[in-house]
Amino acid sequence: MYIFKSKEELQKHLAAFSKGKTIGFTPTMGALHLGHMHLIEQSNLKCDISICSIFVNPTQFNNPNDLAKYPNTLTTDLEMLENVKCDIVYNPPVNDLYVKGEKAKSYDFGSLTTILEGEFRPGHFNGMATIIQKLLNIINPTIAFFGQKDLQQLYIVKNLAKQMKSDTYIEGVETVRGKSGLAKSSRNKLLSENAKKEASLIYNCLNYCENNKAIGVTKLKSHIQKEFLKNENFTLEYAEFVALKTMLPIKDWEAVNQSAVCISAYHSGVRLIDNIIL
Ligand code: PAF
Repeated sequence: MYIFKSKEELQKHLAAFSKGKTIGFTPTMGALHLGHMHLIEQSNLKCDISICSIFVNPTQFNNPNDLAKYPNTLTTDLEMLENVKCDIVYNPPVNDLYVKGEKAKSYDFGSLTTILEGEFRPGHFNGMATIIQKLLNIINPTIAFFGQKDLQQLYIVKNLAKQMKSDTYIEGVETVRGKSGLAKSSRNKLLSENAKKEASLIYNCLNYCENNKAIGVTKLKSHIQKEFLKNENFTLEYAEFVALKTMLPIKDWEAVNQSAVCISAYHSGVRLIDNIIL
């Protein structure tokens, strides 16, 4: 496995060794878990060369505390990537990707950014898109892999690739869950064992929605709200039913559009998000 700390080294290597080969790219912020491993496995299956970037992108954190607390587990991350047979890791310092004082670009993603994470994490998607645009331009992968757990991010990146007229195909990969249903996330490392157990409430609610679709959006939403009120360690930030393509809220199931239910909640100060496509 090659590890590059600068885009010049990475691009030099790709120019020499990637001719005629397909490149699969998985961007990450480190603190890797089985969800990321699943992305790399998909990349290995579908492409000749798999590249993973590890870069905690400062411009996508609207809350400086969140950035400071973000777990850093580089040594284990590299071991995991080696084990899953990732070919190349790009792990640059901030100044390889941003000039001093550089801010996020301003994008227009229309309805995709008006609610959910767009509402509760102002500026987050501009920062996320800024770094993804830079990474896609540096690597020019055949396919880039994104987890469905960050559903809104996935649809925004698809839109970004279109705006960039990029040739990269943006592939969504299903969420990996633990035994209790808790979605794999780097933030789970910040939860106690007990919190992890309680956090299965999120998946239980999503599952309830899948199994009781017939009772309709309004009743499902109030079911979720009630369930969260029962556990005082949890604060529900949103439970929203949206149309997949637009990420706009729906009041009833729409026959033509696929929908999703998205939940964000805090447990012991840790922000967790999850969703299920219905
Ligand atoms: O999902 C993430 O970890 C990040 O938002 C990403 C896509 C790596 C961009 O920094």
